[in-house]
Amino acid sequence: MGDPAAGADAIEAYGCGACHRIPGIRRADSLVAPPLEGWGHRTFIAGTLANDLENLVRWIRDPDSVEPGTAMPDLGVTDADARDIAAYLLSLR
Ligand code: HEC
Repeated sequence: MGDPAAGADAIEAYGCGACHRIPGIRRADSLVAPPLEGWGHRTFIAGTLANDLENLVRWIRDPDSVEPGTAMPDLGVTDADARDIAAYLLSLR
């Protein structure tokens, strides 16, 4: 299990908000990429993977392995940070 509060800090540190609108994260108001509002209700990640913790960690750490050629970059997120970030996103209702 990840820690959602630590995940919020990690989201800010990795700069996910440069592309995504993410509730509760300072300056995360970009619409370059899909907004992540209500993420806990979403069924799919990038339209392909079932939206659960393990798959979300995989997407955050290596999006290209899920969807080759995707515009979502590999930001070098550690496994522990990805777990915290995933826990935060899945807590969004
Ligand atoms: C340079 C811009 C950019 C940055 C920075 C970025 N992303 Fe993304 N992200 C994208 C794009 C573009 C997509 C859509 C990819 C696709 O569907 O192929 C995406 C998709 C996603 C999705 C799936 C969205 C959906 O509607 O299915 C999630 C979740 C996500 N990003 C989380 C993150 C997290 C967490 C971070 C920070 C660690 C991050 N992103 C950083 C561009 C970015």
